[in-house]
Amino acid sequence: PAAPGLGKALLDWYRRCQRPLPWRGERDPYRILLAEVLLQQTRVAQAIPYYRRFLERFPTLEALGRAPLEEVLRVWQGCGYYARARNLHRLAQQTRTLPSTYAGLRKLPGLGPYTAAAVASIAFGEAVAAVDGNVRRVLSRLYAWEDPPPKRLQQLAQGLLEGALGWASPGEWNQALMELGATLCTPRRPACPRCPVERFCRGKGEHDRYPLPKSRRQ
Ligand code: ADE
Repeated sequence: PAAPGLGKALLDWYRRCQRPLPWRGERDPYRILLAEVLLQQTRVAQAIPYYRRFLERFPTLEALGRAPLEEVLRVWQGCGYYARARNLHRLAQQTRTLPSTYAGLRKLPGLGPYTAAAVASIAFGEAVAAVDGNVRRVLSRLYAWEDPPPKRLQQLAQGLLEGALGWASPGEWNQALMELGATLCTPRRPACPRCPVERFCRGKGEHDRYPLPKSRRQ
């Protein structure tokens, strides 16, 4: 369903304008997993110091698995949603090597569809679309789709990713969509004049309608 040029415009923007984050260019699946788990519920600015501290103390999955839970929770202190730290610790006790596929990752404690897809695509290059709240908002606006059901949204995202595979890696593509949602296509006051895909956006000028606020969904 991609308009010609949309994908290339988005990717070109991402390559030029992405924020320099500590996990960009990272190859270690464990570090990528940690970043994605942190970013699920913690803003980038707050996540960065935790990411660094956590890896300083637990540089590998093996080191994390050997540490007592109390210490893991202490390092996580202040970051909130402690279930994330507990799940990471439990996961580290189960395995020293992360599974390299979406299906394998999905079985681990705490890995929902988004996190498993993010790690599978960014760390292992699997062609699976990672749809979080940012991506949902971006696609809802691009296609003027008020309330996309999760399954159909996943299908749309998957089709776009597959259409981009000739010139983008799955991880890069997923992150380009996330980055657009995080920096320009924000919930309120999106920066449409700076958006690389504004000319393809069917929701342009009506960003408040897409996606429909939870309170107004059927
Ligand atoms: N939000 C969550 N994960 C992200 C990533 N890898 N890049 C940009 N924004 C994100």
